[in-house]
Formats: sequence, C-alpha cells, structure tokens
Amino acid sequence: MSSTFRIGGDLDVRRLGFGAMHLPTEPGPARENALAVARRAVELGVTLIDTAHLYGGGANEELLAEALHPYPEGLLITTKVGVARTGPGGDWKLDGRPEILRDQVRQALRRLRTERIELLQLHRIDPDTPLADQLGTLRELQTEGLVGRIGLSEVTVEELGRARELVDVVSVQNRYNLLDREHEPVLDACAAAGIAFLPWRPVAWGKAGAEGEISAVAAELGATPTQVSLAWLLDRAPVVLPIPGTARTGHLEENLAAAGLTLTPAHRARLDRLAGGVEADSG
Ligand SMILES: NC(=O)c1ccc[n+]([C@@H]2O[C@H](COP(=O)([O-])OP(=O)(O)OC[C@H]3O[C@@H](n4cnc5c(N)ncnc54)[C@H](OP(=O)(O)O)[C@@H]3O)[C@@H](O)[C@H]2O)c1
Repeated sequence: MSSTFRIGGDLDVRRLGFGAMHLPTEPGPARENALAVARRAVELGVTLIDTAHLYGGGANEELLAEALHPYPEGLLITTKVGVARTGPGGDWKLDGRPEILRDQVRQALRRLRTERIELLQLHRIDPDTPLADQLGTLRELQTEGLVGRIGLSEVTVEELGRARELVDVVSVQNRYNLLDREHEPVLDACAAAGIAFLPWRPVAWGKAGAEGEISAVAAELGATPTQVSLAWLLDRAPVVLPIPGTARTGHLEENLAAAGLTLTPAHRARLDRLAGGVEADSG
C-alpha cells in the first residue's frame, strides 16, 4: 500500500502523520523539548501535522510555527476551528457561529504565520448553528483564498452526507483505533469516496500492549504493540492517515518506524478480530 496519500486529489502527504495536541506549550524545558519533538517529526519525514485552536487556545499553533517556520516545502499543518470559550477564562463549548469560525481562522493564520490554511477542519458540528451557516462560512473563506480545503471531525455517515451536499469535504477526523472501531462505517464511507480519514487516538494512548493478542503479534514481528496498532491502521485502507501524538522523541521515532512494518495476512486476521473498547472523551 502506498506510503503517501493525495488529500482532495491534489495535496500529497506521507500517510503517517503527527498529532501535536500533547506538546506542552508553557515556557520552560518541556516547551523546549516540544519544539525539538516537532522538528524531529519533520526531520523524520512527517508532512502532516494536526493541531487545533482548542489546543491551548491557539498556543499549540504558535508552538508549531516557532518550531517549524519557515515551513519546508510540502509540509501540511492542518488546524481545526469551531470550539470556543464562553468568555475570558470560561468553559470551552462547541461554537460554529460564522463570526467565531472567521475569528479563529484569522487567529490561526496569524499564529501559524501563513497566508492560507491548506486544510481547515471543523472540529465539531455545532448543533445550535445551522450546518449551512457553518460550512457556508468555511466555503466563503475558501473563496477568499484563506482556506484551501475543508475537513470535518467526529461526524456520522449521515452528517458527512449532509455536509457533502454543501461543500467539498476532503477529510474526516474521527476517533478510531485497533481497540475502538465505533466509527468503522464512517471510515468505510470515506474509503468509498476517496476522502482522507485521520483517525484520532490512533495508538489508544499507548495502551495497545495491554491487549494480549496485540502483544503476541508484536513479539512475533519484533515490533512494539504501538507499532503494530499503527501498521494495522495503515493497512486498513489507503485513505487512513493516522496522527499519533507524543511529547517524547523516543515514542515519536518508535511510532514513525511503524511505516516500515508489514503485517502478514495471518497477523492481520488476528488483529481484525479484536475490537475491545476504550472510553470516549473529547479533544
Ligand atoms: N478531532 C478530535 O476531536 C481530536 C481529539 C483528540 C485528539 N485529536 C488529534 O489526534 C492526535 C492523536 O490523538 P490522541 O493524542 O488523543 O491519542 P494517541 O495518539 O492515540 O495517544 C497519544 C498518547 O499516547 C502516548 N504515546 C504515543 N506514542 C506512544 C508510544 N509509542 N508508546 C507509549 N505511549 C505512547 C502519548 O504519551 P507520551 O507523550 O508519553 O508519548 C500520548 O499521551 C492528537 O495529537 C490531536 O492532534 C483530535
């Protein structure tokens, strides 16, 4: 299976990406290390990095720009909008009102030090704002040249269908991993339509090793359980672009090496049969 995917038919990325959510942004040694992890990801060939306004209210976007700007050719930093604070220091809640989406995109452009966000994802559909208004705003931003392509996050097959009547959806980001396949129908819909599927929580927070069968397959392949989880995702469908997150260089290197791991059909069949469950949360 190819190690690259063309998002929206024209944006090439290496399929195994990086999720930046866990990178600490507070000034200090942890932030310095986070900058180094982001740079190491790109050094090791990552061309797809996921962030969001929600991650530190833009602090995560700022960190990525500090680490990586000026950006190397071919690097896609994708961000998400549509979750906002209710007021200064207030709670985060879904907010897809046009003025909020526009404001968060403007902030992202400034923080990421770019003139255009090549892939902008709606973090969640806001049930209190008409979908046509939310996606209409993203389409306007696209027409204005500030946004290249539009993606969604945590949607059902039905929501994906409705969204596709309003805009060209090129990516979907839903929770999905070897142990949690609730969104299998969404992945299948994406695969059928050639839409990139970015599974979040792809390595189940590093807990795959707790499942005996995954550990057994890992031992037989001379790999780690996390690498087996990622190899299984990469093997699942060509549209799958996992975005594992870590704040440790060691884990980053381990995760990216999974691109070179080949599962035998027998191993794959054993892994396919697993589908435990991990608790859901948001992020
Ligand atoms: N769209 C959404 O709603 C949504 C929600 C959540 C996340 N996301 C995106 O998806 C990305 C990934 O999701 P996620 O962070 O929830 O889940 P994940 O990538 O499955 O798990 C990340 C956690 O696993 C640990 N880990 C990573 N590699 C490991 C390894 N090789 N061995 C042991 N532990 C390892 C990390 O800890 P260490 O730092 O200690 O390595 C980190 O705490 C995020 O960064 C974010 O960009 C999107």
